[in-house]
Amino acid sequence: MSEDAAPTGPDLEAGIPIGEIPDGGTLAGHAGGKAVLLVHQGKEWFAIGAVCSHYSGPLPEGLVVGDTVRCPWHHACFSLRTGEALRPPALNDVTCWQVEQRAGKVYVTGEAPKRGNGGRSTKRGSRHPESVVIVGAGAAGDCAAETLRREGYQGRLRLYDPDPDAPYDRPNLSKDYLAGTASEDWIPLHPPEFYREREIEIVRDRSVAAIEPKARRIRLDDGGTVEFGALLLATGAIPIRLPPEMERGKPVVHYLRSFADSKAIVAAAGKAKRAVILGASFIGLEVAASLRARKLEVHVVAPDRRPLERVMGPELGDFIRRLHEEHGVSFHLGQKPSGIDGGVVTLENGARLPADLVVAGIGVRPNIELAERAGLSVDRGVVVDERLQTSAPGVYAAGDIARWPDPHSGGRIRVEHWVVAQRQGQAAARSILGETDRFRTVPFFWSQHYDVPINYVGHAERWDSIDVDGNLDGRDCAVRFRAGERTLAVATIYRDRESLETEVSMEAAVGA
Ligand SMILES: Cc1cc2nc3c(=O)[nH]c(=O)nc-3n(C[C@H](O)[C@H](O)[C@H](O)COP(=O)(O)OP(=O)(O)OC[C@H]3O[C@@H](n4cnc5c(N)ncnc54)[C@H](O)[C@@H]3O)c2cc1C
Ligand code: FES
Repeated sequence: MSEDAAPTGPDLEAGIPIGEIPDGGTLAGHAGGKAVLLVHQGKEWFAIGAVCSHYSGPLPEGLVVGDTVRCPWHHACFSLRTGEALRPPALNDVTCWQVEQRAGKVYVTGEAPKRGNGGRSTKRGSRHPESVVIVGAGAAGDCAAETLRREGYQGRLRLYDPDPDAPYDRPNLSKDYLAGTASEDWIPLHPPEFYREREIEIVRDRSVAAIEPKARRIRLDDGGTVEFGALLLATGAIPIRLPPEMERGKPVVHYLRSFADSKAIVAAAGKAKRAVILGASFIGLEVAASLRARKLEVHVVAPDRRPLERVMGPELGDFIRRLHEEHGVSFHLGQKPSGIDGGVVTLENGARLPADLVVAGIGVRPNIELAERAGLSVDRGVVVDERLQTSAPGVYAAGDIARWPDPHSGGRIRVEHWVVAQRQGQAAARSILGETDRFRTVPFFWSQHYDVPINYVGHAERWDSIDVDGNLDGRDCAVRFRAGERTLAVATIYRDRESLETEVSMEAAVGA
């Protein structure tokens, strides 16, 4: 659905009696043939496009917080005053509409003039380094570059990434794209002209071989050097591979991190009948669901007792297993492969699973080699402070590699979540410009299995108890992970408002 989708609700250009929408209330309607959300806040009225610019989530079902609205699906946040996409995963603004009050009615009168200058807003921040270099054009790197320009940074801005397709929508690679329900043109985060207009140089024919923080320069793989005023490291994570002796013959084992990896699995799936997935991780299970959508026979092999138990606990783990079994997936749990050869995956218990396609989703490790070699402080990730700065002044890190002080859990954490990486990219960009806000975002991720989305707010590596509120099999549930009286994290299925409300209350608890 887009803002242009067949309009529902009242015609807001014809006017709505003011008394029909109470203070704090919202109304979904249309204007100029487009879906519009009308919001009443005290003496003010706002109207913006009703369809989230990320994956078209319905903003009228979201949560209004002050003069913003948060999307119910993946928690993007838009300004009600301007339509500006304030927080990822949405990267594009929605339309802002003008509102007038006359004779007891409120009218949406037309689109507000667009904010111009190619996404550049007025200069903010106190520092303007001569040049910024970003290593890695993934979630964090892309968002940092966009934010620098949005915040008015006018210096030279270069984004290095050897991946010819970057930047793109990585979460989609195991979901709709792999299932065959999203076309290739969904995958880029923006068209090439977006970067050209903003003078964001994406350098794809070189990768960064070393960084030299004291000299403030990077060394490229061809030996060339580039100086920087500020540097952001956003090199992401690398899939863990099986021991080489296990990958003896056919079929080739696939891993999934890049667009090219996803395309290779799609090509292999086209010729395959039976797939074996190694690892009951988020990626492994999403791949299983997508390959079932392509009608392959799918077996999942994992050493765990339950899928995702370490992150989601036993109740959700059992539910996810049932869900996949209902869709025809066979599990081989408590098992590891002992060899892959001749079209067969052999398990440690001697079982032999025929396979034309094998995908391993057995975890990732943060890509911290550049940071380690540069002598930055590293502790199972690149150690950063509340402003995402590493132990070297002027060098920042964000995304899957960053271990940051998380005020919610009270410790340093590192996560592998798309939205967190994007928001850290945004925060690092602001720090580079001398803004002093601390990164206090509540971690959030989502995962999609068939028609069941799971939203997770907070962070719980360990917990004392799990409270299941609602009915998992009825697809209406909140699972709370607690330590004593504290709620550390909440996973929800079709309880989007509750997920948003949890996020807001967790933010309030730390003054975010
Ligand atoms: C298939 C898949 C599905 C996912 N689904 C979800 C999901 O549903 N929800 C969720 O929250 N998270 C999901 N994730 C995780 C999410 O994508 C990551 O957390 C996020 O991409 C991390 O962002 P990042 O910027 O740290 O790294 P990345 O997005 O991985 O980007 C890092 C970039 O750095 C580049 N790079 C590496 N080394 C160098 C170098 N030396 N020089 C230059 N460039 C370099 C790489 O080529 C890469 O493009 C998924 C991940 C995958 C792989
Ligand atoms: S659809 Fe709105 S945040 Fe994803």
